[in-house]
Amino acid sequence: MSKQFGPDYVRAIAPYQAGKPISEVAREFGLDEENIVKLASNENPFGVPESAQQAMVRAAAELGRYPDANGFELKQALAKRYDVPMEWITLGNGSNDILEIAAHAFVERGQSIVYAQYSFAVYALATQGVGARHIVVPAKDYGHDLEAMLDAIEDDTRLVFIANPNNPTGTFVPGSEIEAFLQKVPPNVVVVLDEAYNEFLAEEDQYESAAWVRQYPNLLVSRTFSKAYGLAGLRVGFGLAQPALTDLMNRIRQPFNVNSLAQAAAIAALNDTEFLEKSAKNNAAGYRQFVEAFEQMGLEYVPSHGNFVLVKVGNDLAAGARINLALLKQGVIVRPVGNYGLPEWLRISIGLPQENAVLISALQKALAEGRDQ
Ligand SMILES: Cc1ncc(COP(=O)(O)O)c(C=O)c1O
Repeated sequence: MSKQFGPDYVRAIAPYQAGKPISEVAREFGLDEENIVKLASNENPFGVPESAQQAMVRAAAELGRYPDANGFELKQALAKRYDVPMEWITLGNGSNDILEIAAHAFVERGQSIVYAQYSFAVYALATQGVGARHIVVPAKDYGHDLEAMLDAIEDDTRLVFIANPNNPTGTFVPGSEIEAFLQKVPPNVVVVLDEAYNEFLAEEDQYESAAWVRQYPNLLVSRTFSKAYGLAGLRVGFGLAQPALTDLMNRIRQPFNVNSLAQAAAIAALNDTEFLEKSAKNNAAGYRQFVEAFEQMGLEYVPSHGNFVLVKVGNDLAAGARINLALLKQGVIVRPVGNYGLPEWLRISIGLPQENAVLISALQKALAEGRDQ
């Protein structure tokens, strides 16, 4: 009899590597928390919108009760925003929850899930978590190769994950190409279009994925309040899909998967267009700031459509880890991406102008130290 617990496919999971918290870096490197700049988890540098904070204070008085299991008010607000019936919405404990629920609801052990090389780490975890087979399609210019992904679909494929924009590479597939993919994909394959960074897209890149949901019964669009809306710590995201998919997801999800504070804050944030605009504007300016600096330093980077940039900090396989350590010592937290098969690169989230400036000079110093050795 085996002495090991759990199925093989669970034991084979490599746990998700999150960005280091500020408190941990302060302790480890003997630094003052106040002086640490965290550009590691694609969070909103403005923090929680004031409107959401006020909504949470009001909601706190009711915390003795369970949340609304159906999230009526939040779903109502989302239904209005995206012009879909409320019954087409699934709320999630972050959009991560939506991705997991989708894998559990639509895929059986032994069937396959298709996703791209260098795409969001949770796709591999969700695949593994249900004991499904991974079909990982090689990236094209660090992004999704949709034609190759279509060709990779097999008879037992039940789900395809597409991140647009993608994390950690920041790559983007134009809406016209996504729609061409939706037209060709077999109708029994669920397409999860993960749009966690959608709100950062430039105007000319924006497309109407909610309209595709009306057209394609096998499409699930996933969105989050963690990034542009500034609510990462609350964990709230949502999925849009027709009832054939939404009904199944509703059976799989935990009854109270989105807490009361999160529901209240998300409604406030959804209506706070000023905060959203401010965030998008800061992001576009910060992106220019980074790109100019990387170009001056002669560093290769992947053009990004999200709130982060992937930059190559050396040519050897230890480069990412080495520069990351040099940055940590200077109190700057970024994300090494060796776990994605990108050991020469770092992913840097876009912060406030001053935070970006701190990163740039810390990076210059870290690279110079490397050269002096
Ligand atoms: C592409 C992508 N999808 C989904 C998520 C999940 O975010 P959350 O669970 O906070 O909504 C992330 C978070 O980094 C992401 O990068």
